[in-house]
Amino acid sequence: MDLLTTIAATRQYVAGVRHQGKSIGLVPTMGYLHKGHLTLARTAREQNDVVMMSIFVNPTQFGPGEDLDRYPRDLERDQELAAAAGVEAIFTPPVAEMYPRGYSTYVQVEGLTEVLCGASRPGHFRGVATVVSKLFNIVQPDRAYFGLKDYQQAVVIKRMVRDLNFPVDIITVPTVREPDGLALSSRNKYLSPAQRRSALALYRALNLGADLIRRGERRAKTVWEAMTREILSYPETRVDYVAVCDADTLEPLLEIKGRVLLALAVWVGNTRLIDNLTLEVKDHVARPDEE
Ligand code: PAJ
Repeated sequence: MDLLTTIAATRQYVAGVRHQGKSIGLVPTMGYLHKGHLTLARTAREQNDVVMMSIFVNPTQFGPGEDLDRYPRDLERDQELAAAAGVEAIFTPPVAEMYPRGYSTYVQVEGLTEVLCGASRPGHFRGVATVVSKLFNIVQPDRAYFGLKDYQQAVVIKRMVRDLNFPVDIITVPTVREPDGLALSSRNKYLSPAQRRSALALYRALNLGADLIRRGERRAKTVWEAMTREILSYPETRVDYVAVCDADTLEPLLEIKGRVLLALAVWVGNTRLIDNLTLEVKDHVARPDEE
């Protein structure tokens, strides 16, 4: 396992791999690895000759008062887990390597970043798009891997890659969950045992919404209300947002149709958790002459 902390060393490593004619899969992370991250790495392992992972708690995607300082870190453990999942090299730069004095260039994806998490975390996706652009330029991978747990992030990155012509394939991987349904997240570490029980509200609300839709409910407002009520029935929960929207444009729906995204962000105590689910609504409207 190679541990790379400078951009120069990473470029050199990449040049070596390229010289051997090998393909590279990149898994960008902020570390404190769990099975979600490792599933991305294993998927990359199957599709590329060499798998590289970045571990960088990116300050530009955290807002004032967010958890940048207390974000969990454990590089030693991460190295072991990543190696076992087939990662050959980790790029883990200090902040000043990525954002030297005088740094002043940012990538802004418009529209898609103004809703959902973008509305409650202004500047968040600007930070994400910026750091991911930098990682793509430093590593120049053939493929890069993103989890659908951060659905909006994956949509934003795909749009950025299309708009700025990055020569990289974006591969998305389904959300990995605990046995009871809670989506794995590095932030789950913040939860007390009681909050961990309340955190199940997210998965339960998503399933409740999906069930209503499967049973024929087509009014987004009804689904939204049922999901919100479900979340608030758990102790210590506060709703940041509940959204019923188009899975491609992320625009809110009034009437449920097509590919639908149910997405939510919920505070459990002082911890903000997100989760989502997509489903396809194929309505067959029987016309009288078919009856
Ligand atoms: P981080 O939260 O560490 O997540 C790294 C990658 O793991 C993301 O693509 C995320 O969607 C994926 N992931 C997290 N939990 C998952 C789960 N339960 N199932 C499947 N995939 C999961 O997302 C970031 O870091 C950062 O914003 C980053 C892209 C690295 C830019 O700084």
